[in-house]
Amino acid sequence: MNKCFTLHHEDESQILGYNVCGGCLLLRICPSSLGVHLSILMCVSLCSFRTFPCAAVEVKNEPILGFNEGSPERAELQKALDDLKGKTEEIPCVVGDEHVWTKDIRYQLSPFNHSHKLAKFCYAGKELLNKAILASVAARREWDLKPIQDRAQVLFKAADIISGPKRAEILAKTMIGQGKTVVQAEIDAAAELIDFFRFNAKHAVELESQQPLDSDGSTNTMLYRGLEGFIAAVAPFNFTAIGGNLAGTPALMGNVVLWKPSDTAMSASYAVYNVLRDSGLPPNIIQFVPADGPVFGDTITSSEHLAGINFTGSVPTFKRLWKQVAQNLDVYKNFPRVAGECGGKNFHFVHKSADVQSVVTGTIRSAFEYGGQKCSACSRMYVPDSLWPQIKQGLLDIHKQLKVGDVSVQQTLASRTVSSSFARIKKWLDHAKSSPKLNIIAGGHCNDKKGYFVEPTIIESTDPQEAIMAEEIFGPVLSVYVYPENDYLEVLHLIDNTSPYALTGAVFALDKNVVNEAAKALRNAAGNYYVNDKSTGSIVAQQPFGGARASGTNDKPGGPHYVLRWTSPQVVKATHVPLREWKYPYMG
Ligand SMILES: *[C@@H]1O[C@H](CO)[C@@H](O)[C@H](O)[C@H]1NC(C)=O
Ligand SMILES: *[C@@H]1O[C@H](CO)[C@@H](O)[C@H](O)[C@H]1NC(C)=O
Ligand SMILES: *[C@@H]1O[C@H](CO)[C@@H](O)[C@H](O)[C@H]1NC(C)=O
Repeated sequence: MNKCFTLHHEDESQILGYNVCGGCLLLRICPSSLGVHLSILMCVSLCSFRTFPCAAVEVKNEPILGFNEGSPERAELQKALDDLKGKTEEIPCVVGDEHVWTKDIRYQLSPFNHSHKLAKFCYAGKELLNKAILASVAARREWDLKPIQDRAQVLFKAADIISGPKRAEILAKTMIGQGKTVVQAEIDAAAELIDFFRFNAKHAVELESQQPLDSDGSTNTMLYRGLEGFIAAVAPFNFTAIGGNLAGTPALMGNVVLWKPSDTAMSASYAVYNVLRDSGLPPNIIQFVPADGPVFGDTITSSEHLAGINFTGSVPTFKRLWKQVAQNLDVYKNFPRVAGECGGKNFHFVHKSADVQSVVTGTIRSAFEYGGQKCSACSRMYVPDSLWPQIKQGLLDIHKQLKVGDVSVQQTLASRTVSSSFARIKKWLDHAKSSPKLNIIAGGHCNDKKGYFVEPTIIESTDPQEAIMAEEIFGPVLSVYVYPENDYLEVLHLIDNTSPYALTGAVFALDKNVVNEAAKALRNAAGNYYVNDKSTGSIVAQQPFGGARASGTNDKPGGPHYVLRWTSPQVVKATHVPLREWKYPYMG
């Protein structure tokens, strides 16, 4: 019999729930002069009794739609894409229920057509950000006192809306704004976001059922409170899902959040924000505040109310924020929790026993989908000399068929990059052209005349320590080192030591001993580790995601323990037997 919740009643009695035979047994404990008095209230079936979350909530991964010719989802999406053509949406800052326009006006440009301004928005300055902080802190108490089931309902409802009526609109805004193909938008802005909302809500509700032991005469209850203060969520451009989750999950756990959406994901982020509000999220719980990065960072880190930062972006920016937190430590009421995800230099290790076709197709997808702008994208590969001729030929054959272009053309695999990535990727391509140790075997061209265009590029490096094998590029650039096939143990060591990152990695080998050796050698080299599968494509609740070393704080969003990061539990011991004696028995 498992205790799954405790409710404290106004008349000082308590109601305890126990999981029994798939149902829920409710007991009432009344304080009385005779000690503990138990009465059985009722025994109910779970499905008919929704207020008490006794057992697991059934949640499944959202199915990924196909968008095949003639399908209803394709027609709806096409309509949503047409609706955005030539239009500029106006997106204000939202603090409480107030729409605020500052003088600092910005635009979100479509990455494959610079002359299309998809959104007009404005930056919140220091003053507005401080106002947002105070308003959210004032709203916190009431929100945090709401039962977790009520807050979870907001996310369940938001997930249903995104899965249904708003799917096409959010997909279209993700495609046009962030330059994603239909499949990449679908797995991000629909499937992953829906999964994040549903699974985190489920995990949060289930967390309440983890309760401490009781002893004779007293009951112990763990209350999962939100953090005291506000959480700052800094979202990246590449995933609509991350933006939504970044702000939505802490709110679920009873926190208030300042959400700084990415400039280049503004349109999709605002749509998600509105879905949350339409699903019952009260004003002031999530403040929608686009802002200049440094202004946002300086303002939140100097507020005494800062309780946590959740960041996704580059290592230097994350380090800057963390240092600011350290410098201001004396200012805060709490020790702020700092969580970050900062990218990777993900590897594909190929052993001579590997299945060549899996290596080729897995690597093409991992390295080039969404233009390599996924933190999990494969960007370095280690291939034995015996297999290289076949693998190289396989890569080149597919490379010829890759189309890079306008995302509304359905057959493109790799899409264009966004502006912030373009200059950096170009630098790496120029470096590859001038370095004697590097040989471009496919692609290598880029231009930014009309959109930001980078050709999927494959580079062979004769030096495994070349910077291109170690540093993050965040674009469609794959570097390959070909090793003498019998030196694979040294190569495993090399993989572990070449790069500061440790996010994802894959081992391709059919020889079981090699799979085991690699798992040991690479134990710290990746937080998400794949065997005979590509390094990308993690699914919420199946492969909770994150890495250590320079890749971040490895908090594994998408897994059950993640929600704990955003709670500050309180344990309540209530004794029902009066205390009569101050002496211990040994004192006679
Ligand atoms: C690019 O956007 C502009 C402004 O919305 C529009 O007039 C033009 O037709 C677009 N070009 C293409 C090729 O879609
Ligand atoms: C933190 O960021 C990750 C993405 O890096 C996101 O999935 C998660 O929901 C965020 N968590 C919070 C509490 O903001
Ligand atoms: C998204 O992009 C940011 C850079 O802005 C990067 O740090 C992060 O790892 C990326 N996340 C994913 C899931 O690709």
